[in-house]
Amino acid sequence: MGLFVFFATITLCLVVDSSAVLERFEEAPKPDGSLSFLVIGDWGRGGAYNQSQVAVQMGVIGEQLDIDFVISTGDNFYDDGLRGIDDAAFNYSFTKIYTAPSLQKPWYNVLGNHDYRGDVEAQLSPVLTNLDKRWVCLRSYVVNAEVAEFFFVDTTPFVGKYFTEPEDHVYDWSGIGPREQYISNILEDVDLALRESNAKWKIVVGHHAIRSAGHHGDTKELVNQLLPILEANNIDLFINGHDHCLQHISSLDSGIQFLTSGGGFKAWKGDVKWWVPEEMKLYHDGQGFMSVKITQTQVDIAFYDVFGNVLHKWNTSKQLSSTL
Ligand SMILES: *[C@@H]1O[C@H](CO)[C@@H](O)[C@H](O)[C@H]1NC(C)=O
Ligand SMILES: *[C@@H]1O[C@H](CO)[C@@H](O)[C@H](O)[C@H]1NC(C)=O
Ligand SMILES: *[C@@H]1O[C@H](CO)[C@@H](O)[C@H](O)[C@H]1NC(C)=O
Repeated sequence: MGLFVFFATITLCLVVDSSAVLERFEEAPKPDGSLSFLVIGDWGRGGAYNQSQVAVQMGVIGEQLDIDFVISTGDNFYDDGLRGIDDAAFNYSFTKIYTAPSLQKPWYNVLGNHDYRGDVEAQLSPVLTNLDKRWVCLRSYVVNAEVAEFFFVDTTPFVGKYFTEPEDHVYDWSGIGPREQYISNILEDVDLALRESNAKWKIVVGHHAIRSAGHHGDTKELVNQLLPILEANNIDLFINGHDHCLQHISSLDSGIQFLTSGGGFKAWKGDVKWWVPEEMKLYHDGQGFMSVKITQTQVDIAFYDVFGNVLHKWNTSKQLSSTL
């Protein structure tokens, strides 16, 4: 008996210790337990290419839904990330663009490949959060909002071609260390955090798509390495940017909804490949953004164009259960 307690204690300590690997943030849901947020991707262009128009409509919808926060799927600053913590683009592509009162909430960001072409450490720096307190940007981390838990994954280092065919782009891989080790640590950390999660809804966010009919298509490294972990842990939504479009693929193989919100500024008109029609719920080759509302029993998703018109709505539900 004594021995059993001893081993049980050891196991508990190990679990608690290793789960501290990914930094965690707490978001309180609304008093009724619900949560709503907007998702924008591929956006920082000093307001050009309709970035400002999309921002205005986000403000309107954000107010209607009384959003709790905003998620950015990366490629936060074009073309080459930020040059440093004093780059004025942080002001003129972010602070001075998303000015609506409803958008003065935390912004949970991931990094995209364009962000890796600049000074990555700058986007991760608390100096930016001092300039604009909304700014939250880490490489990989967890946001726990009780009814839902969010797992942000740094996907850029997974993509082999940035290392093998860097073309004329220079990437800032400082802070990554040996690439294979970095990737296997992420996979291990995300798997552990997902397995330990008690949240009713599990949502994973990254810059690169796992499933996409857009210009870049599926990211094979994520299909091979990350997707099996997401499927094994029964996540509900995978949310990404990278392809400059709005897209909803409802997987027939698993329960996962693959959602692309990459319409923050310049969209890629007509750049779409064939996809299984039963899975393709929306493909919009214009600008826009997405909203998500979550309760204990239901998730509601909507996509909006540059005018704030609803392009597509979708919902799913789960039984209210007392068991965790
Ligand atoms: C901005 O949006 C309008 C309306 O959809 C569109 O006609 C125009 O081409 C867009 N501008 C750019 C630069 O994408
Ligand atoms: C941000 O830009 C505005 C003009 O758009 C300017 O008035 C303000 O001083 C800038 N803030 C910082 C911190 O650079
Ligand atoms: C959920 O979506 C279905 C269509 O798929 C619709 O008929 C229904 O009204 C929606 N439910 C809610 C609560 O919005």
